[in-house]
Amino acid sequence: MSGGTEGERASFSGRIGFIIAAAASAIGLGNLWRFPYLTSHFGGGIFVVVYIILALTFGFSLMVAEIAIGRKTGKSCTTAFRELSEKQGWIGTLAGIVPMLIVPYYCVIGGWVFKWFFESASGSLSVLSSDGGSFWWEYITGEAEGMGDPFIWFALFAAACVICIAIGVDKGIEKMSKILMPSLLVMIVVITAYEMTLPGIWDGIVFYLSPDVSKLSMGTFLGATSQIFYSMSLAMGIMITYGSYMRKEDSIEKSVRGISMIDTAVAILAGLLIVPSAFMFGFGDSQSMGLMFVSLPQVFAQMPGGAIVAPVFYLMVLFAAMTSAISLLEAVVSGFMDRFRIERRRSLAMAGSAVAVLGAFCILGFGPLMTDLAPFDQGAGWLGIFDMVTNSLLMPIVAVLTCAFIGFVIKTKPIEDEVEACGNPFRSKGLFRVMIRFVCPICLLAILIFGLADMFGLLSIY
Ligand code: TRP
Repeated sequence: MSGGTEGERASFSGRIGFIIAAAASAIGLGNLWRFPYLTSHFGGGIFVVVYIILALTFGFSLMVAEIAIGRKTGKSCTTAFRELSEKQGWIGTLAGIVPMLIVPYYCVIGGWVFKWFFESASGSLSVLSSDGGSFWWEYITGEAEGMGDPFIWFALFAAACVICIAIGVDKGIEKMSKILMPSLLVMIVVITAYEMTLPGIWDGIVFYLSPDVSKLSMGTFLGATSQIFYSMSLAMGIMITYGSYMRKEDSIEKSVRGISMIDTAVAILAGLLIVPSAFMFGFGDSQSMGLMFVSLPQVFAQMPGGAIVAPVFYLMVLFAAMTSAISLLEAVVSGFMDRFRIERRRSLAMAGSAVAVLGAFCILGFGPLMTDLAPFDQGAGWLGIFDMVTNSLLMPIVAVLTCAFIGFVIKTKPIEDEVEACGNPFRSKGLFRVMIRFVCPICLLAILIFGLADMFGLLSIY
């Protein structure tokens, strides 16, 4: 971002700068952790196909809408809706709640990554891969090292994010991630190439890449939609804020294509790294959200030089997770500042405390506070509930409201005009209109109804 003149909103320098900044925050645990385990859970190749189709239609339209709202109003999410229509400001407030609920559990998973980095760097890779992959579960439930250890790594991860924001080095971290992110991609390609030489990997690749229509279920759609929101950072006001920093002359349509293509490509690559090998080692469906932490250590344990590759890999994942966590936390902090009219430091202290409390809840949810409230995924605990409430409930609600707001309150015209403000025609205008006014709201409502029915045990989708 380059500083504008006083009073003017700072803006990104050019389309490429915008795409890189948005992609850097979009790429995170969603791509590396969530996408592979959902793919494994929801039928492999067919999930990938559904995901890609949704990214190109639904995700695309929603991201265009959000960025256009942001650029048109020049405001971040809480105030942007109010600016467009006095009565509907609350949609923005609702969207602003989502990051608040995501950051805590994001930091818990960040803590796991931190731990995996530390163990592999200190020569204990064999611990991570021991007992045929049961370490992750023993670790998070406190059986392996007590409940204190996951808490320490969570606290370190969260504190690092808070400190980065407090002392203002978050921009520096983001710059560093521009070097580390491409390196992460190179590492993923190298490790994947090694995996291809493992005997028995082929069946896993077939599972991942060839869609089996008989595995298509309601869950595939539910999972893929929730993943679109999460991975593309939609329905939480983030893209609105990003849009407010975008220059008028840059093309929204081309930027969105760029961001969504990069984000999807990274997810698919991460899936290729994790899903076939998990399938091969027989973890497939059994490990749910631990997939990344059980299958890769097995690969590293066999790989020549694995003892060096593993810590380097986890370090890069750690950075990708941290840049995303920082942008999420930043969204919470500025949301609090706007909402409660408080200064930055107090807002950061409030957000930090909330993260500590809710994060502790997620950690203890695998131990003493274990609950069966999440019938769809045994053992997902409170972390699973946070994940579900945000991605399968709040975000679809925010998205339906956003669609209805654009389709029927302000109408699609102002958004289309904003997209064309750069001087180029809006090439996917037809798609955009149909998606925003009809397809998205109808599908989202269906998903909400099925999701709720599932939650209350009326159906069993997951
Ligand atoms: N998209 C990020 C990921 O894939 C997670 C995320 C959701 C995020 N919302 C965000 C990151 C807002 C930064 C800002 O991990």
